[in-house]
Amino acid sequence: MKNTADMWQGCWISSDQATVSDEPDFDLADMFAGKKQKFVPVEKRLHPVVYFKKTFIANKYIKKASLQITAQGIYQAYMNGRKVTSAIFTPDYTNYNKFLQYQTYDITDKLIEGLNVFCVQVADGWYAGRISVQGGSTQFGNQLALLADIIIEYQNGKKEIIGTNHSFTSGEGKHCYADIEIGEKQDLRISDNWLKDSKKLVEPVIEIKADYSRLVPQTGPLVHCQQPLASKKIWQEDSSLIIDFGQVIAGRVRLTANFAYNQRVVLKHSEVLDENGKFYQNIVGRNKDQTDIFIGNGQQMTVEPDFTFHGFRYVKISGLTEQDFIDAQAIPIYSNMPETGWIKTDNGKINQLLSNIKWSQRGNMLSIPTDCPQRERVGWTGDMQVFAPASTFFMNTEAFIRRWLKNVRLDQRANGEIIDYSPAPKDAAKSVQFTGSYSSAGWGDAIIMVPWTLYQRYGHIDVLQENYQAMTKWIEFAQQSAASDKVTAQKYLWDTKFHYGDWMFPSLMLGPNPDPMKTSKLTKDVVATAFLKHSNDLMFKISEILGLDGKQYQDYAQKVQTAFTKYYVTNDKHLINDYQGCYVLAIAFDLVPPKLKANLLDRLVQKIHDNNDLLDTGFLATPYLLDVLTDDGYIALAQKLFLQESCPSWLYEVNHGATTIWESWAGIQPDGHVGEFSFNHYAMGCVLDWFVRDVVGIHSEQPGYQIIKIWPRVKICNKISASYVTDKGLVKVDLNYHDDYQELTVNIPLNTRAVICLPYHNDTQKYQLLRTYTQGTLNQDQKYLQIQVEAGSYYYRY
Ligand code: BGC
Repeated sequence: MKNTADMWQGCWISSDQATVSDEPDFDLADMFAGKKQKFVPVEKRLHPVVYFKKTFIANKYIKKASLQITAQGIYQAYMNGRKVTSAIFTPDYTNYNKFLQYQTYDITDKLIEGLNVFCVQVADGWYAGRISVQGGSTQFGNQLALLADIIIEYQNGKKEIIGTNHSFTSGEGKHCYADIEIGEKQDLRISDNWLKDSKKLVEPVIEIKADYSRLVPQTGPLVHCQQPLASKKIWQEDSSLIIDFGQVIAGRVRLTANFAYNQRVVLKHSEVLDENGKFYQNIVGRNKDQTDIFIGNGQQMTVEPDFTFHGFRYVKISGLTEQDFIDAQAIPIYSNMPETGWIKTDNGKINQLLSNIKWSQRGNMLSIPTDCPQRERVGWTGDMQVFAPASTFFMNTEAFIRRWLKNVRLDQRANGEIIDYSPAPKDAAKSVQFTGSYSSAGWGDAIIMVPWTLYQRYGHIDVLQENYQAMTKWIEFAQQSAASDKVTAQKYLWDTKFHYGDWMFPSLMLGPNPDPMKTSKLTKDVVATAFLKHSNDLMFKISEILGLDGKQYQDYAQKVQTAFTKYYVTNDKHLINDYQGCYVLAIAFDLVPPKLKANLLDRLVQKIHDNNDLLDTGFLATPYLLDVLTDDGYIALAQKLFLQESCPSWLYEVNHGATTIWESWAGIQPDGHVGEFSFNHYAMGCVLDWFVRDVVGIHSEQPGYQIIKIWPRVKICNKISASYVTDKGLVKVDLNYHDDYQELTVNIPLNTRAVICLPYHNDTQKYQLLRTYTQGTLNQDQKYLQIQVEAGSYYYRY
């Protein structure tokens, strides 16, 4: 592994123009209180993208040439005017000061025997640019820099390395500035010829001291521009053009137009229209401009920003007449991951919901798993924790999530706390001034729950091994934080610090005054204690799988259950915090003994009925809501909640034209009011996991689908056709529900076995027959017939 200075020929190089200025802090409390900060205009405080250049002679008879490269900032490299890769935003988003990836490209076909021109553009990116809710700058450092080795191997065995050093030159050009959140400005009057010509750039470079030990080869997928989307509708609003691409994405616009000389063409991005169908910027706040600017050069051009992305469906273009506009495409951007899952049903609304989940996954899997791709764009641990099980269906996310987990581990504080978001930029520490805490139950538990999910789905034990130490440190922190200086059994209740709780449960978000902090306040103690129990339960299982003694965690979990029952269950067998989410988690994580569980379940069902059969769960409880109902005898209610169309419900969003999953059901309120929310948060898309397991019926019965369970037990529509590529091969399920019978066709891949579960009623002849021809055994309560099968294709009619 190349991780020392001697292993690189190149030195870290920078330039005088590559220092990014720090912007003043903006306190979160002030921000939430609606205070505005005085800002210097963007064009005065952002700086041009830094260009580096080197010309060199390559001799004849080149056998192979490669480029090893990385940057502080994000880079785009060119050899003789050609991009060395179609990947963008390299070197990806990691905790740069501890973990910086370098990339290696084969450039043999781009090198010329003779004079070569090597150019690299370095922009602020996540390293020095603006991210997080506060939108502060210089998040990981303020010195953009480049490190590269061009390695040429000749046929005679000789090797030549051209490394970055003082012989490079630097400069600037058409990229007036580029920021991840704010956007990019390009002056099209400045030509791109410098990428090919042999002229030096005007500024010298400086060799700087920067760490080599953090360098590691790229692992996991790279970010790419994906299949373009055509515009769906174009109209004029005031003197601007509004384009609807029909799909909320993370990405940018590729615009073809006649750009009048000196004309300033401005593109603003947004995810929704307002109540009156007018362009509406749903993302507000410091540095959340999402605005690109092009200065015209008097020519017809196709332009696109290079170093930024936006969350949008609509773009508002000003400075361009309708006659000069030719075409616009939306370019989705996300990390390349193999697609693994497909579902089609006979219900258009459900198909749309599934598509919305997929697009929210795409938009939030851009280098790291994020909360949202427009406002904060950071790796909130809780959002990944909640969505992890669903994330493994449409795409193979294993390498992507494991790379992110490395950031989570590196950011872990000495006291074991898992920081709310990772990679943790400078602003992460500043959030503490607001909440008083670096971590939160259900968020920090991601370090245990996410590897556990990956292990279940992909079956690789090393994901548990590599995170185990961090898990133990987090659990120790959680236990100590809960205990604080308490002396009674109350020390097993985690009621001691701030937590986000069942964040944003809908009843406190709908209406004129959404109050997310109140959702935290009202639920945090019960929710945190539930996660404390659950994580200790998982630690017991994980320890045993790794051949370690996990008994202490099992004992601890038992003590949490006892304390929870004693202090949090009231005399009339309700919870002290009488909210749907609290019941869901208490039931899902076994916070009470079995005899009390039925009481909590009754109360949950009662509360759902009292709420017109609508859910009222937030971020942490929603993933378990339908499971709790399905597992505990309320399949019809689970079915009803899933198919609800009133607010809040998944299909409510679909009915309001959603093309991704919203952060809150209050995004568009029943009265039509459009809120300043993110319309692209995958968290509530967690319902996909329940859908795959209980509606389609595909379960991993043994880690990595070694044994597959096919158990479609909730009927949601009449026809479903699903395919899923597991590590072991393709599983296919086709379901057809008819008036008086059902059909199930299943394909089980080689190297696996499956247990297929079919409903069974021993009082009808039909089911008796089914039993005879399938040779199945009955489950304990005689409701299901379990049929053991090897790899192959199977058809059942029942
Ligand atoms: C983010 C969430 C995140 C939360 C913490 C929000 O601003 O967008 O998705 O988990 O803060 O509660």
